[in-house]
Amino acid sequence: MDPRSIRVGVLVGSLRKAAYSRRLAGALARLAPTRLQHAIIEIGAMPLYNQDDEAAAPAAWTAFRDEIKGADALLFITPEYNRSIPSALKNAIDVGSRPKGSSVWNGKPAAVISLSPGVIGAFGANHHLRQCLMCLNVATMPAPEAYIGGADKLFDAADDVVVPATRDFLSQFMQAFDRWIDRFVPAVPSR
Ligand code: FNR
Repeated sequence: MDPRSIRVGVLVGSLRKAAYSRRLAGALARLAPTRLQHAIIEIGAMPLYNQDDEAAAPAAWTAFRDEIKGADALLFITPEYNRSIPSALKNAIDVGSRPKGSSVWNGKPAAVISLSPGVIGAFGANHHLRQCLMCLNVATMPAPEAYIGGADKLFDAADDVVVPATRDFLSQFMQAFDRWIDRFVPAVPSR
C-alpha cells in the first residue's frame, strides 16, 4: 500500500441490502482522491449496547472497536429515521465510546453525509450525528455540509451518481475531506 494512503473507515447508517446510503458509499469510493482507501465497517451484527456485558464483551463489539482503531479517518453516510439517525448507527457509536476512557472515536478526523429520497436531505440526522460525534472528540469536518436529497434518482445501474451537479458536489466534498484529514496527519496513529 502507498505509505501516503489514508485508511477511511466508512460507516453506513442503513442495514438494508439495497440502501441508497450503501450505494453512495460505493460511488464515493470511486469519486474520492485515490489516496483515500475506503473500507466499509459493518455495524449490523452488533448486539445492543448493554454496560453489563462489558465484563465479557461480545466478540462483535471487540471486532468493531478494533476496526475503528485501525482507521485513519471516518466517513459517515446515513439516512434519516424519524428526524434522527437509525438506531443501528447510534448503537455503533455507543459501543465504540466505551469502556469509559477507552473510546475508539477520540481524535479521529471524520466527515458526515446524509441522504434521503426527500428534499431536506436528512438534515436532522446529519446534525444529530454531529452532536454525538462532538462529545466524543471526533474532528468532524464542518464544511462543506452534505445533505443529499432525491436519493432515489441519484444512481445508474452501476451505482454511479448520474446527477451531474450532485456528482460534482460530492467530488468536491471528498477533496475537501482529503484536505481536512491532512490537518490531522501528525496525529494519525498509523503514521
Ligand atoms: C424513514 N425515512 C425518512 N426519510 C426522511 O427524509 N426523514 C425521516 O425522518 C425518515 N424517517 C424514516 C423512518 C424509518 C423507520 C424508515 C424506514 C424510513 C425514509 C428514508 O429516507 C428512506 O427509507 C431511505 O431509503 C432510507 O435510506 P437507505 O436505507 O436507502 O439508505
